[in-house]
Amino acid sequence: MNLDLDRLQPYPFEKLAVLKAGVQPPSSLEHISLGIGEPKHPAPPFVTEVLADNLNCLSNYPTTKGLPELRQAISSWCERRFELKPGSMDPERNVLPVNGTREAIFAFTQAAIERKDDALVVSPNPFYQIYEGAAYLAGAEPHYLNCLAENGFIPDYDAVPDEIWQRTQLLFVCSPGNPTGAVHSIDTLKKLIALADKHDFIVCSDECYSELYPDEANKPAGLLQACAELGRDDFARCIVFHSLSKRSNLPGMRSGFIAGDASLLGPFLLYRTYHGCSMPIQHQLASIAAWNDEAHVLENRSQYRHKFDAVLRVLRPVMEVKQSDASFYLWAPTPIADDEFAKGLFEQQNLTVLPGSYLSREVDGVVPGAGYIRMALVASVSECVEAAERIRRYIESL
Ligand SMILES: Cc1ncc(COP(=O)(O)O)c(C=O)c1O
Repeated sequence: MNLDLDRLQPYPFEKLAVLKAGVQPPSSLEHISLGIGEPKHPAPPFVTEVLADNLNCLSNYPTTKGLPELRQAISSWCERRFELKPGSMDPERNVLPVNGTREAIFAFTQAAIERKDDALVVSPNPFYQIYEGAAYLAGAEPHYLNCLAENGFIPDYDAVPDEIWQRTQLLFVCSPGNPTGAVHSIDTLKKLIALADKHDFIVCSDECYSELYPDEANKPAGLLQACAELGRDDFARCIVFHSLSKRSNLPGMRSGFIAGDASLLGPFLLYRTYHGCSMPIQHQLASIAAWNDEAHVLENRSQYRHKFDAVLRVLRPVMEVKQSDASFYLWAPTPIADDEFAKGLFEQQNLTVLPGSYLSREVDGVVPGAGYIRMALVASVSECVEAAERIRRYIESL
């Protein structure tokens, strides 16, 4: 087998299962999980209807490139959402449907990395675990940039030496960030594009939480938008990843897209035809309906807004928590070690949260996720409020 497989770390949820093994939570309390970032709001009925109405499509192989109508719907969505020059997003060349961004992030990395001894993939730290695994299996080394409170959880890109940028083939940006919820400003994105030009690397912006933001007047900026503001209509060196999982509460549909630089997406399409990961036609048709509608996304955001408000009201007196810039995560410091905190919370309150140290690696003697927990506010408002009350009782008991 590929020896690089040995470099893959156990997934954070495996570590969490080990932490919880043998612990007996109180049976008087129902278990609540704020652990996994799996949306729990209902899927939009008009999308599931399209899916059900098109099951006859199961008789046909889907193409890797996807239906022109889907690529058109995605291109139009990008132009509307990120204020792109009309017609700058060519559905034939700038967009590909993918089966969720996880698959696409992994696959794109395999296709993009040129196997050189010194190849680097630069990743935020803490980070979404696929960035690291994708780098290892593509034969590259991950290079982590710590996301610390003093920098608003955005990596200090200015502190990265030229020698590192020179070896960088691919930079992962996660904005809004998992687990911190921090959003990169458009100026930071423009700065990254300039660095990519100077040192010849690809910027991969994972924007799968871009539609979950608290302020309707302040949407997170995207990498394509930064390109548009720079007049960079070919999106050179820039790739974005988007998904219906969080935007439309459709994690089971496995539907997203990758968009940007046509000179990168062309070879990636070739890679995908061999890889064999086309989206089923009925899922493509349902995805068109989802991308063409914003009313359900507005309603989704409103539900998260109420949830954050209610949870923060309960937690603020005992924890240093604040509304995240975007996403459905709360990233909060713990009064004791994060894994000990998570274990005790499970033991005393039958509540699961994710220790931040499981999402980050040690760099320069610092584990930037240590001393934090990630709370995914995915359950109903009442369940999230009940969870917050249990966390508060637990902290008060320490
Ligand atoms: C930062 C980040 N990127 C990508 C994904 C993958 O999402 P999906 O494959 O459902 O689009 C997730 C899922 O939780 C995530 O947190």
